[in-house]
Amino acid sequence: MPPEAVNQKPAAPTNSGSALYAMILENIDRAVIAFNQAGRITLFNPAAEALMKRSSRQMIDQHYQGLFKDQKTLLYLVKVALEEGRSITDDEGLYLQRSDAAPLPVNAYAAPIFANVGNQDGAVIILRDLSQIKELEGTLRRADKLSILGTLAAGLAHEIKNPLGGIKGAAQLLSMELGEESGLQDYTQIMIKEVERINFIIEELMDLGNPRSPEIDNVDLSQILGDIILLQREAVRSQNIKFTLKLDPSIPPIQADGDLLTRLFLNLIKNAGEAISNTDNHTDSHTGEVTVGTRIASNYHITSPGGRPSPMVDITISDTGCGIAPEEMDRIFTPYFTTKSKGSGLGLAISQKIVEDHHGLLKIESSPKKGTSIIVSLPLHC
Ligand SMILES: Nc1ncnc2c1ncn2[C@@H]1O[C@H](COP(=O)(O)OP(=O)(O)OP(=O)(O)O)[C@@H](O)[C@H]1O
Ligand SMILES: [Mg+2]
Repeated sequence: MPPEAVNQKPAAPTNSGSALYAMILENIDRAVIAFNQAGRITLFNPAAEALMKRSSRQMIDQHYQGLFKDQKTLLYLVKVALEEGRSITDDEGLYLQRSDAAPLPVNAYAAPIFANVGNQDGAVIILRDLSQIKELEGTLRRADKLSILGTLAAGLAHEIKNPLGGIKGAAQLLSMELGEESGLQDYTQIMIKEVERINFIIEELMDLGNPRSPEIDNVDLSQILGDIILLQREAVRSQNIKFTLKLDPSIPPIQADGDLLTRLFLNLIKNAGEAISNTDNHTDSHTGEVTVGTRIASNYHITSPGGRPSPMVDITISDTGCGIAPEEMDRIFTPYFTTKSKGSGLGLAISQKIVEDHHGLLKIESSPKKGTSIIVSLPLHC
């Protein structure tokens, strides 16, 4: 190598260099928006188009004050980068307001752009969509609640189960003493039944705090979902709820615990049906519709450190029921939170736990009075 080549500075972008830069900007998943020194947009990459729901053609040459109208923090960031020549970042609860879409949690970084000779020549702002991260945080928060509950439950449940055993034994003895003909048998039967109910709730709770680890086998998702729908259709026949299955037949068996998945989807499908019974938003002869669909997701996930990436299967359970109020969204996973007179409020907490144990993700989208969709993403193999 000739000596003068050793300390060479990186070459200024040649034609192929700038083509490379352009390609990176086209493909990067961060919104990159550049402004000239007058504050007008000179670059609006495809991720910016997707995030802001505006086309680059529309935006080029617009002023940043129009782009971020009424968004104090973003205006401030660009101003600092443009006028003071400083880079600045903000990731504290920043939401990007969009005219035709919901506000989006973002992280923003603004920096001045310097021309070759060292003079400032505008600024750039980079926005990162944090919605997926926020969802993950939500999942972690829910998991935290469960682990606190687990410790509490293990101790408490043990203490309650013992005296319960005593009460049930005594009720059974009493029943024997009274003899089958006694009119008081109704009462002893109620005592025994109710004790068994408490026992069941306690066991559910113990399960939640200290669940058995999944026993992994090859599981046919379509079969499980088909069976549950069959059962639910019968169980709520009188209510005229329409159940629709949209299964992708090409999904291979997934590695999971079949019993736990049955429990998971039964909880979610029961909730969907109950949300419909709970609304008076009825349209035609059917009081509402529950749709269960499966598909292979386009993304891969690494489910364990160092593990190989697995394709994910999305199972969506949608209903046209009462929906969930935004202020309740965070509480519905809390054990014992229920809005139903006969609910235990454990269904979703248990479902969340089962999904986590399978290295999956659970996502909810809901609009009050319109309905709810729950999307469970499970890896094809663990
Ligand atoms: N599909 C849904 N549509 C509307 N609200 C829902 C839906 N799923 C859950 N919820 C709300 O979340 C709450 C908690 O649900 P969860 O399944 O944990 O308990 P539950 O259904 O009330 O009782 P359980 O499942 O023990 O019978 C429900 O009471 C309901 O308010
Ligand atoms: Mg439920």
